[in-house]
Amino acid sequence: MKFFIDTANLDQIKEAQDMGILDGVTTNPSLMAKEGITGHENIINHYKAICEIVDGDVSAEVIATDFEGMIREGEALAKLHPQIVVKVPMIKDGIKAIKYFSDKGIKTNCTLVFSAGQALLAAKAGATYVSPFIGRLDDVSTDGLGLIQEIRLIYDNYGFETQILAASVRHTMHIIDCAKIGADVMTGPLKAIDGLLNHPLTDIGLAKFLEDFKKGN
Ligand code: G3P
Repeated sequence: MKFFIDTANLDQIKEAQDMGILDGVTTNPSLMAKEGITGHENIINHYKAICEIVDGDVSAEVIATDFEGMIREGEALAKLHPQIVVKVPMIKDGIKAIKYFSDKGIKTNCTLVFSAGQALLAAKAGATYVSPFIGRLDDVSTDGLGLIQEIRLIYDNYGFETQILAASVRHTMHIIDCAKIGADVMTGPLKAIDGLLNHPLTDIGLAKFLEDFKKGN
């Protein structure tokens, strides 16, 4: 299972990268705005800075919602760095754009996916990744993890190579449940990744080991 971090915060990206477990980064316009990164040039430079920190795929989202605009933006983004994956929204022109990029060998991430039907279309178009938003489904009393299960079943039935990128992950149990279901990737905040470290018995056990070591020395 690949671990992506879902942030545009360079310090957090560095921290996850330094742990040695990071496989990539996902961003979106909201996460960029949260870091105060605005304006075309600043956003482009920020993508480049992220690519310099991590070794894996970095999703960069198009803003256009029409086919020509998405192609123009996506091709420019893909040229920035070989690690860039063009993130495209799940709309009809987005599906056309994903097919276009896929035929050209440009990696894509189909975002804002909330149903199995949408995930099926993304795979048919040849998306590299599909991003079902599990936290946002949970927010509206709908089973986010259930959607991951449905997509896993459908993709396995037909051998689709599109990777399931569980997005809008909010906490450790989302990560663990996605791993059980067989999501290819999860993207979440540093807090959720760090949360996997925690267990009181680890802390108690380590304190005891250190105490006993001191007794013997
Ligand atoms: O990966 C998608 C993500 O950025 C959305 O997360 O927590 O805003 O639903 P959230």
